[in-house]
Amino acid sequence: MNEFDQGIMNSGIEKYATDHTSAELSVLAKLSRVTHLRTHQPQMLSGHLQGAFLQMISHMIKPVAILEIGTFTGYSAICLAQGLQDGGKLTTIDCNPEMEDFTKPYFEEAGLKDKIEMIIGDATEIITNLQGPFDLVFIDADKDNYEKYFKMVFPKVSPGGYIMADNTLWYGRVIESNAESDRETAGIVRFNKYVQQLEDVENILLPLRDGIMIVRKKTE
Ligand SMILES: C[S@@+](CC[C@H](N)C(=O)[O-])C[C@H]1O[C@@H](n2cnc3c(N)ncnc32)[C@H](O)[C@@H]1O
Repeated sequence: MNEFDQGIMNSGIEKYATDHTSAELSVLAKLSRVTHLRTHQPQMLSGHLQGAFLQMISHMIKPVAILEIGTFTGYSAICLAQGLQDGGKLTTIDCNPEMEDFTKPYFEEAGLKDKIEMIIGDATEIITNLQGPFDLVFIDADKDNYEKYFKMVFPKVSPGGYIMADNTLWYGRVIESNAESDRETAGIVRFNKYVQQLEDVENILLPLRDGIMIVRKKTE
């Protein structure tokens, strides 16, 4: 699998779009290289095109508080933190303790040491103890818990705030006739259905890379 073969987009189009997107920050390029060399599932990393999208969204929202569920090697955390207001903070959770030492040097090199707090543990437990409010939440962990994560974070999202969830087209499997026969696809299908019937949100399922569901919590 190459870097342009990780979702539902035609790989030629994804390459063309990437070639016409601002250059990757050097720290992100380095992190991507090391992730591909040192981890078993480097395709989990957001990558250049999606990372640039997350960075752009964060600049548009100018959040004070961001929550990320699923840090992995920290690529998306660095992208999302770019748009934080002065004094803002990104909290990111991952259950894999090996990721803490992996991410630290890159958060530091990106100048984000004091803006990113990484919490190691199971997000289904940790979120309960987080205060919020969050202006932006990025869900990118185990797919069968997406609906649960959404329900846990929604009350902690500020009115007018956003929740984004990655991989919501899940390699296109969401439209296959046996979509619910594997746990991960079933989790994504359940999540998309749940969001779609909510009345207190606006949402769009954007077909970028592997699909990003963007949800805005209405203000009234
Ligand atoms: C797709 S990767 C995240 C990629 C990262 N957001 C990026 O774009 O570079 C998913 C991560 O979720 C973590 N994860 C899975 N289940 C979890 C759970 N229950 N609690 C916290 N983290 C979890 C995994 O350890 C993995 O590192």
